[in-house]
Amino acid sequence: MKVLSVVGARPQLVKLAPIAAAFAGTGHQHVIVHTGQHYDADLSDVFFSGLGIPDPDVHLGIGSGSHGAQTGGVLTAMDPVLEAERPDWVLVYGDTNSTLAGALSAVKMHLPVAHLEAGLRSFNRRMPEEHNRILTDHAADLLLAPTQEAMRHLAGEGLSARSVLAGDVMVDVCLRIRDAVTAGEHPKPVLPDGIDPDAPYLLATLHRPDNTDSPERLAALLDSLAALPVPVALLAHPRLVARAEEHGIDLNRGSLHAGRPLPYAGLVAAVMGSAGVVTDSGGLQKEAFLLDRVCTTIRPETEWVETLEGGWNQLVPDPHQLSASAWADIALRPTPATDRGLPYGDGKAAEHVVELLERHRR
Ligand code: UD1
Repeated sequence: MKVLSVVGARPQLVKLAPIAAAFAGTGHQHVIVHTGQHYDADLSDVFFSGLGIPDPDVHLGIGSGSHGAQTGGVLTAMDPVLEAERPDWVLVYGDTNSTLAGALSAVKMHLPVAHLEAGLRSFNRRMPEEHNRILTDHAADLLLAPTQEAMRHLAGEGLSARSVLAGDVMVDVCLRIRDAVTAGEHPKPVLPDGIDPDAPYLLATLHRPDNTDSPERLAALLDSLAALPVPVALLAHPRLVARAEEHGIDLNRGSLHAGRPLPYAGLVAAVMGSAGVVTDSGGLQKEAFLLDRVCTTIRPETEWVETLEGGWNQLVPDPHQLSASAWADIALRPTPATDRGLPYGDGKAAEHVVELLERHRR
């Protein structure tokens, strides 16, 4: 069996790591196509080297651009690649512009498409990721759902016949790296200047257009982080850095200390060393949950509703509308005592995905 993975953005590289490792132990051929949606070394190269992912076989070099230019660029560039490779499966990951373009290019060439992390919904149609998810699920032939909740969403859209519960491959990679960090196999993470790794700190990220692209909202959110009573390590995504610069907003003030994004093992270590996480990232909400840290999510909704159970994750769309003490009480709340179970699977999802691709091969 020949499987061609299409990836392009940071969260997809994290999911690719366990899948590439699972293929390595089989006789199957695994071809990696990198669209180039993320091109900064901090968002791409360090994930290949740090997670032991083989170098991409093909690099499309798409880069930044409007949604149309980015999606269309991948679509055009994929035709000759798929023509040359003719895989048994095109495997697309998550919800980025690269996901949608990869799926669309394959179905137009009558190649079977499998969607990893199918069935997630925010029900927020302002998010580009929500369009990407829905359109990819409806185009794909095999929907690999991470959770029961995702299976329910797919059933609600009439897609049950193509859906299977595969588990969440992010558990595989997160727990493997957690154990390696605990065993001292990774160097200590480079936290932003001003953060003492041995004193309590919060770990923060902010990159969604709804939070970064209005200067008033971005300034208000950063004010809320800067006013917290413990240091906040802000791992700044290029979109955040670009928007802050554009609008003359300072990322370093009060409690706020900005630094570069971390490689995956550094991120896992930084979460483990923190008193909690404040974020608008999907992946980080779940990583906090898996690593026993409370998470406060700066969004009105989450796709990972299981993390909300027992208060492990809490949604705070507008922290600037709370009093400073109420906001601090939420962001620094103690770790709940509730048992979380295993809503995301047992850490063997990638092997399961390979088996499912074999079983459903036409
Ligand atoms: C993308 C995904 C999002 C995912 C996120 C993780 C879409 C629609 N969004 O959002 O689902 O959660 O990746 O990071 O696909 N930039 C750089 N260097 C890079 C990449 C981006 O400087 O390596 C800058 C560019 O100015 C670009 C901006 O960041 O315009 C946004 O990048 P883009 O790929 O459009 O979306 P992300 O916000 O990263």
